[in-house]
Amino acid sequence: MSTGASPPLLKIHRIDKSYGSTRILKSCSLEVAPRETIVIVGPSGSGKSTLLRCINLLETVDAGNILFDGRDLTRERKAEHLVRQQIGMVFQNFELFSHLSAVENIMLAPMTVSGVSRHDAHDLAMVLLNKVRLRERADAYPDELSGGQQQRVAIARALAMKPKVMLYDEPTSALDPEMVSEVLDVMAELSAEGMTSLVVTHEMGFARRAADKIVFMDAGEVILTETSEQFFSGTTHERARRFLDQILH
Ligand SMILES: Nc1ncnc2c1ncn2[C@@H]1O[C@H](COP(=O)(O)OP(=O)(O)O)[C@@H](O)[C@H]1O
Ligand SMILES: [Mg+2]
Repeated sequence: MSTGASPPLLKIHRIDKSYGSTRILKSCSLEVAPRETIVIVGPSGSGKSTLLRCINLLETVDAGNILFDGRDLTRERKAEHLVRQQIGMVFQNFELFSHLSAVENIMLAPMTVSGVSRHDAHDLAMVLLNKVRLRERADAYPDELSGGQQQRVAIARALAMKPKVMLYDEPTSALDPEMVSEVLDVMAELSAEGMTSLVVTHEMGFARRAADKIVFMDAGEVILTETSEQFFSGTTHERARRFLDQILH
């Protein structure tokens, strides 16, 4: 968790995104300080995934700026390379390479993007597998792993680039209920160790435990940013409160 006020590592400033004539993101702004964990909640279709996809340049924005570590990703010439190296992404459906074993999935980006040797990439991958408690499954292929195990490999794969920030898009929503906590525990541990994280999830237990701030999105807008304490002690924002009531009951 964050310990105090620092300049933001990630600053999203009034970004707009439309598909055709439909405005999906409407002047969204958001700041993530180093070591901070922010949880984004909001109804389906409110633009949460689109926001994360804009941050890691899977989508282009129509207006606004995305400042990462002081550099504007919407203008920087080598932005894609910077993002692939320094922003880790974990998706709902794991998206592991099915023809590669767990350890090979984790070794791939350090070897191909950063030029790390096979030997060093393997050492690093084993450390990371240990961290996500899957050392003994290093040689298993994705279809031999449970959903919870696959998602933990996906987290280790993202960590292999030693990212400055981790983005998670509903990382547990495709999992059977009994596997949710093994993934959330790994994420919470990373947050507690100071990994800057932006997490789209409706797992409110995780949010309460790990988040410094909660952001509520609705219909393409960031309509609320509160500290976790403010939010869970009874947010005064009516739409956010109704949404919270719905998902908690
Ligand atoms: N590639 C796309 N083309 C057109 N519309 C899209 C595309 N991706 C998302 N949308 C629309 O954008 C809105 C926000 O989607 P999304 O960011 O996935 O929301 P959330 O993640 O909050 O559920 C939805 O109405 C969705 O239908
Ligand atoms: Mg989504």
